[in-house]
Amino acid sequence: MTFTSSRVTPWAERRARPAKGKSGRELAHESAEKHVLGTAAYIDDLPELAGTLHAVAGKSTIACGKIRKLDLAPVWASPGVVDVLTLADIPGEKDIGPVYKGDLIFADGRVDFHGQALFAVVAESFEQAKRAALAAVVEYDEEDAILSVEHALQQNSFVNPAHTMQKGDAAAALAKAPVRLSGSLYVRGQEQFYLEGQISYAIPGEDGSMKVHCSTQHPSEVQKLVAEVLDVPINHINVEVRRMGGGFGGKETQAAQWACIASVFATRLNRPVKMRLDRQDDMVLTGKRHDFLNRYELGITEEGKILGADIELAGFCGYTADLSDAIVDRAMFHVDNAYNLHDTRVIGHRCRTNTVSNTAFRGFGGPQGMIFAECMLDDIARKVGKDPLDVRKLNYYQDGECTHYGQPIEHFILPELIETLEKDCDYRVRREAIKTFNAQNPFKKRGLALTPIRFGISFTLQFLNQAGALVHVYTDGSVHLNHGGTEMGQGLYTKVAQVVANEFDIDIDMVMVSATTTDKVPNTSATAASSGSDLNGKAAQNACQMIKTRLVDFAAKHFSVTTGDVRFENNHVVISKDGKEEWIAFGEFTDLAYRNRISLSAAGFYSTPKIHYDRKTATGRPFFYYAFGAACSEVEIDTLTGEYKVLRADVLHDVGTSLNPAIDIGQIEGGFIQGMGWLTTEELLWDAKGRLASASAATYKIPTSVDIPVHFSVRLFDRPNSEDTIYNSKAVGEPPLMHGISVWCALRDAVASVADYKVSPQLDTPATPERVLNAVMAMQALNSAEA
Ligand code: MTE
Ligand code: HPA
Ligand code: MOS
Repeated sequence: MTFTSSRVTPWAERRARPAKGKSGRELAHESAEKHVLGTAAYIDDLPELAGTLHAVAGKSTIACGKIRKLDLAPVWASPGVVDVLTLADIPGEKDIGPVYKGDLIFADGRVDFHGQALFAVVAESFEQAKRAALAAVVEYDEEDAILSVEHALQQNSFVNPAHTMQKGDAAAALAKAPVRLSGSLYVRGQEQFYLEGQISYAIPGEDGSMKVHCSTQHPSEVQKLVAEVLDVPINHINVEVRRMGGGFGGKETQAAQWACIASVFATRLNRPVKMRLDRQDDMVLTGKRHDFLNRYELGITEEGKILGADIELAGFCGYTADLSDAIVDRAMFHVDNAYNLHDTRVIGHRCRTNTVSNTAFRGFGGPQGMIFAECMLDDIARKVGKDPLDVRKLNYYQDGECTHYGQPIEHFILPELIETLEKDCDYRVRREAIKTFNAQNPFKKRGLALTPIRFGISFTLQFLNQAGALVHVYTDGSVHLNHGGTEMGQGLYTKVAQVVANEFDIDIDMVMVSATTTDKVPNTSATAASSGSDLNGKAAQNACQMIKTRLVDFAAKHFSVTTGDVRFENNHVVISKDGKEEWIAFGEFTDLAYRNRISLSAAGFYSTPKIHYDRKTATGRPFFYYAFGAACSEVEIDTLTGEYKVLRADVLHDVGTSLNPAIDIGQIEGGFIQGMGWLTTEELLWDAKGRLASASAATYKIPTSVDIPVHFSVRLFDRPNSEDTIYNSKAVGEPPLMHGISVWCALRDAVASVADYKVSPQLDTPATPERVLNAVMAMQALNSAEA
């Protein structure tokens, strides 16, 4: 046999025990140690090449209007400046809109939001570029800006036409219903606040080629856009992403602009160019979660069963469409959450405002729809005087029923999951204890809520549901894995490596995953819609199976056995012959196969089956399956100050058969906290001039370790996915964010206790202490009006 590295455990030892780290095991994230030690390299940690320049954008100082004068002479004259770019200097395509046109790299004679990039400057140092960007002399003819959803609705200002989904006849159902109620909720957006900001590093190569290191969830789109902007074929550009310090949707489309700018500079100057947005620029220049203004009218029975619903959702898209069409659609898809609304009409507006173009954020509009379902259910409970959990149970979907977009409900395990959580967390006992507590305490009030999640898994645009993977097996039995998915901390690289280890039944340390690059796996989709492991796991499995088939065929011929006599076990290939077993170390076997001219490399592919959606009729099966979960949160508010804390949270979440329980639980914990932050402390505010007022960590408050619930339990609902996903697992990335809704419902429950649960308090989000206090005072005013 050939040389085997001393870093590889001897095969004899590997034979004596099961292979380590295969799928389903609680393996630490592949970079966990490096994350903790600080040795995991992000783009700004890469050693800078000699001659590297730094680019910074020059931003508008108004929200809306024409540019009367743009004098860049002072920018050119600034120390260290090497080049300045405006829209006219872009050699190829100037519009980098991901789905619809409209996203120009720089403003074209007019400004549509405060902070919009007008030009970019590149200098010897980042500080010099920052200073130079401020030197431009710009004069504007200011126009009236549209800065709110309400204003946009009133002005009919939309980035795209409204879309409607319908089931039955909502108007007729409402007219007949014995009880009617209506309500509204304003749900504010959220800043992604990834720890590593947007960054790209463009390095020119030979023959007009370009290597771009980019912190992006979508390397293929960045590759394509850079090529278009430079006016070169796509094969000239190679985009590499080893890891992101978080993406959360914010790097699905909005990493591209900075990659394009850096690449144009790099081409013009034939020097490496880095463009890194500092935190404030990042917050001002890139899109966030969409705010939503939601309204409903419901018809219900006296018992609180929903008969019909008329729902209007309006998303705050900013000045261009970006991904807003799909995001508002996903809000509409999730407005029923776990409940059969029966005759339903849902209309979704895409409001155009003079603010930065909003984009993907974990859940992709789903959370903004889902919270409204929970809001409606709580309102019904107050109206009919029942426990909110009982009203929820009354309205659950049942298998065989149909959503308002025509997807039938199947494998609906939610009632059972909730039953389990309800018992495990002592919901009923605590409900009584809270009533007693509230009766005894004049100022402190407690609230409790148990809320479910049903989240659709798949990109709603069918063609995006595909992935590729590249697997090389080397002669010593070590394996190199590459796939189209990107690593943003969610553990995708670890999970897909586990799939490969599982397929060959080899130790995980035999599998090496390297950076995602567009020259290894081409034409990939964004790592988004939680489908990274579903898609890339299957693609990697497909590649492994191709190689395995070749190896088994070869072994059968070579050892004169049938293919059924060959198996992969404990890092070995086992040949059964004449009642005896021959165990050949995997590394020896692959060397043998190589010597017999067997290809040990394969490119795998996967496309999700069963899904289709016709947007014209708004019907189909957009989702391969649903991920489920439920959370129960208990809070305590101070009715004198509005301050609160989360005393306890219990989460039970469905990840099918987990690929990696440790990583899945991490995703659920992180998702819960991120969702709670969205609905409690994170407040995005624009001032009257359209300037982002909360543009730094000083004014925008993300949750910290002290905000974690005092008692926090997260468990997996261990049940294989009924659909044929990779090892019957389920996607985990986005859904757990929506467990944060239970905290908001619990806060509302605590506030409602002030007026003896007789009315539903208006509690727009984020439910900051100030909003909680206002809601409490509104309840107290009702009490005194009654008295
Ligand atoms: N987890 C971490 N640590 N960092 C992230 O940026 N992004 C979330 C989720 N979990 C994110 C994360 C979002 S928005 C998505 S769509 C999924 O991860 C994407 O990865 P997956 O499809 O591999 O789950
Ligand atoms: N989810 C996330 N990202 C997306 C989607 C989606 O459904 N569609 C396009 N990008
Ligand atoms: Mo996630 S919002 O689909 O990147």
